[in-house]
Amino acid sequence: MTQADETIGLDDLSALRLRAVEILRNNDRGGYTVPTDNLYPFQWNWDSAFCAMGIATFDIDRAWAELESLYVGQWSNGMLPHIVFHHVVDSYYPGPEVWGASHAPQTSGISQPPLTATATRFILDRAGGETRSRERAAALYPKILAQHDWWARERDPDSTGLVGVLHPWESGADNSPVWDGPLKGTPATKTSFNRRDVALVDATMRPRQWEYERYIYLVELYRGLGWDGSRMWAETPFKVADVGLNAILMRDERDLRALAEQFGTAAERERLASRAAQRQRGLESLWDSADRTYYSRDLVTGQRMPIASYAGFLPLWGGVDDKARVAQLAAELQRWLDLCAFGAPTMAPNSPEFDQRRYWRGPVWAIVNWMLGDGLARHGCDDLAKRLRDDTRRLMELDGFCEYYDPLTGEGLGGGAFSWTAAAGLAWALG
Ligand code: GLC
Repeated sequence: MTQADETIGLDDLSALRLRAVEILRNNDRGGYTVPTDNLYPFQWNWDSAFCAMGIATFDIDRAWAELESLYVGQWSNGMLPHIVFHHVVDSYYPGPEVWGASHAPQTSGISQPPLTATATRFILDRAGGETRSRERAAALYPKILAQHDWWARERDPDSTGLVGVLHPWESGADNSPVWDGPLKGTPATKTSFNRRDVALVDATMRPRQWEYERYIYLVELYRGLGWDGSRMWAETPFKVADVGLNAILMRDERDLRALAEQFGTAAERERLASRAAQRQRGLESLWDSADRTYYSRDLVTGQRMPIASYAGFLPLWGGVDDKARVAQLAAELQRWLDLCAFGAPTMAPNSPEFDQRRYWRGPVWAIVNWMLGDGLARHGCDDLAKRLRDDTRRLMELDGFCEYYDPLTGEGLGGGAFSWTAAAGLAWALG
């Protein structure tokens, strides 16, 4: 009997859960998990945090290894890169030579939404009081703290309580329509390049070429600045206080504060507590009471970005505690769900930007549903949480563990046998 069988219990293990375990095992490249074969052949930051939680449902030791291998990529300034290129393969663009970052193993030069404190607590919880797990959490704690100090120091140098992302990829939602405005003010790269993604996945499901030219421009700009955080902050044309990233950061910081109770010093606990109060004020400044949602802010122009996306609901996962506010968000989300067969879409189906198949411009993502569902349940919105869970399970039943899904038809899109979707099944939707 394998460890998976022991933990879950073979008798009631559905075929779907078995398949999810199999996907996570197949995508294991030796201590780290690739998001999917071919399309994403390295370790991605927030993917790994979700994977670690999924893996913790059947293999605690391997779940810790997932986080530990991610931190092998951490920079000396605390930054946790969005990709760790553990092994060099040339089937991905932009690879390590485009990033030109000096770290071994090679990494990208930007980060992604932080979920490792959340994942650490999740694994600890699954492990019960086990001593070895406590030791591994204790060893991770200072690294996670350094990562949060990096966000505060380098991505909120004016101490506003909101951090800025300097690349659309840093938000995790690469081609969200919210980035269209600032990307129009970003030059295109002059370098010609060969995208590998559109050779592997239908181009109608991927970001468009004009966006890619700007993604690469930003990478080249920062590489030219030697990845110097203060110069990047001062010179970039793309600087956004993304409500999604800030909400996820707030949740991770809350989990970090809980870890600090066990593993930290009094001074660290104090630092995190005052940061939490500052973040709360920052998030509040993104609330739009007329439209009843949170909007991101363009930190170059200082303007709010009034395009409603799924990210406006993420404060349910981290950031919002006020009951009336939760009710307003839940009511709006309910309206979005009523417009599609499967929720939650990343953009409202009746908005001009909605594109049902194109990546972060409409499709349903299982990890987004997980965060929203968890947040709703925590706030007592059980019916809506159940609806998201049921929709996610139905999508998995219909088309397996895809990268994302069409909210109108349920068709699975993008990469197949996808790790974080399998993790969302194991840790949340198929529980
Ligand atoms: C895409 C997604 C990003 C994810 C990565 C690997 O770039 O937009 O959020 O981390 O794929 O799955």
